[in-house]
Amino acid sequence: MVEPLRMITPQERSKAIAEAGYNTFLLRSEDIYIDLLTDSGTNAMSDRQWAGMMLGDEAYAGSRNFYNLEAAIQKYYGYRYITPTHQGRGAENILSQICIKPGDYVPGNMYFTTTRHHQEAAGATFVDVVVPEAHDPSDESLFKGNIDLAALSALIERVGADKIPYVCVAATVNMAGGQPISMTNMKAVRALTRKHGIRIFLDATRAVENAWFIQQNEPGYGDRSVAEILLEFCSHSDGCTMSGKKDALVNIGGWLALNDKHLYEEASALVVVYEGLHTYGGMAGRDMEAMARGIEESVQDDHMRARIGQVRYLGEKLHGWGVPVVRPIGGHAVYLDARAFYPHIPQDQFPAQALAANLYEDSGVRAMERGIVSAGRDKLTGEHHHPKLELVRLTIPRRVYTQAHMDVTAESVAAVWDERSRARGLKMVFEPKYLRFFQARFEPI
Ligand code: F0G
Repeated sequence: MVEPLRMITPQERSKAIAEAGYNTFLLRSEDIYIDLLTDSGTNAMSDRQWAGMMLGDEAYAGSRNFYNLEAAIQKYYGYRYITPTHQGRGAENILSQICIKPGDYVPGNMYFTTTRHHQEAAGATFVDVVVPEAHDPSDESLFKGNIDLAALSALIERVGADKIPYVCVAATVNMAGGQPISMTNMKAVRALTRKHGIRIFLDATRAVENAWFIQQNEPGYGDRSVAEILLEFCSHSDGCTMSGKKDALVNIGGWLALNDKHLYEEASALVVVYEGLHTYGGMAGRDMEAMARGIEESVQDDHMRARIGQVRYLGEKLHGWGVPVVRPIGGHAVYLDARAFYPHIPQDQFPAQALAANLYEDSGVRAMERGIVSAGRDKLTGEHHHPKLELVRLTIPRRVYTQAHMDVTAESVAAVWDERSRARGLKMVFEPKYLRFFQARFEPI
C-alpha cells in the first residue's frame, strides 16, 4: 500500500500548529509531511497479512482467527492462556483490576503513561526501580532498561512482599528512549521475586525489539535467533500485557496473556465487561488474523535488522552532527534531549513540547513530547512530576518510510538545532484530567 504525502507551506504550518494549541496530537494528519508521532498502529502490513484480512471469521464466539492468534502467541511468547483486547491499555486495565488492591505498590522499570494510569486507578502507587543510568541521556550503557535490584529489594523490605502484587517489567523501556533490559537482569529479577512470592508481568509491547538487542549485545546470545531469545525472555515472567500495534505489525489490537488458570478466569470475567467476549476482546476476526501473521513476521531476524537499523541510521546521523540525542540509540525511536536543546527554557515552560512544535513548523515532521507534559501530576500532591528526561521522540513506523525520509528528518532537526537560541517556552492553557499530553493546549510565552 502506498499513499501520497502532502507538503503545505510554512505559513500554513504556523497556522495549523497554533490552531492545534502547540500540541502535535491535535494536528490533522493531512497537514503532516513525515509522521513520526508514534510507531503505534502506524505499521504497513505485508501481503500475507492483507491476504489474512480476507479470511476474517466474524463469528461472535470462537472465531477461527482467535485460535490462530492464540497459537501464534503460545508458540512465540510461550504463555498458556490468552485473551485479545482492543489494544494494550485494555489489557492493562484488566490486569490492574484483577491483581491490585488499594494501598499496593507496583515497581517497574520506569513508568509508561497508560500503564501507570491503570495501576493508580486500581489503587496502587507506582515505584520507579529502573537503573539510574536510564535517567541520563548521555550514558552509553547498553542495557539502560535494567531493573535496579537494590532498589527493588529495598522496596520489598520497606513495604512488605504482600503489598507488591507484581513487578511490571517493560521491554524495551519506551520512556527511557526505547532502551533494552538484559536477559541476565531479567533472570535476577525472577530469582529475587521468587523468594518473596511476587509475580512478574511483562509489558511485551516491544519485547521482540528487546530480544534483538540481547542478540546483538549480550554475551552468549549472538548465535541465537530473535525468536528463541524472545521465548526464553518471556519464560521468566508470569504473563504479559501487549499492544499489538507496535512489534506485532498491525494497526489495532492487543492481548493479555497469563500462565495461571485461576487468574485467567478472573481476567475473562472482566474482559466480557470492558472488551468483548474472551475470544475476540474488542477485535474483528480479520484483525486477529493480521496480528497472528504479524507476530510471525516480527520475530524474523532480517526484519529486526532492517527495522532497528533504520532507527539507528537516523540517530547516528544526528549524533554525528553534534545534535543531543538519547544514547545509545533505542529500538523504535530517536529521542532528542530538549534540556540540551533549550537550556534557557525552564522545565515548567515545557521545552520538549516547544521543540516538537518548532520541528513541525520547520518541515512538517511530526514528533511527540515525552517530558513533563507526558509525566502528568503526582496523584497525592497534585504537583507536576518533574522527570529528569525532557525528550522529543522521533518514532519510526515499521516498514513505512525510506532512508530519504530519514535524511529529510535529520536535516530539519539540524535546522531547529541551529535556531535553538531563539526558541521560547509555552504556557499550558488547557489541561485535561487524565493523560493530559494527548489533549492539552498551549500558547507561546
Ligand atoms: N505499553 C507501552 C510500552 C506502550 O508504548 C504503549 C503505547 C502501551 C503500553 C499502551 O498500548 O496504545 O495499545 O493502548 N504506546 C504508544 C506510543 C501510544 O506512542 O508509545 P496501547
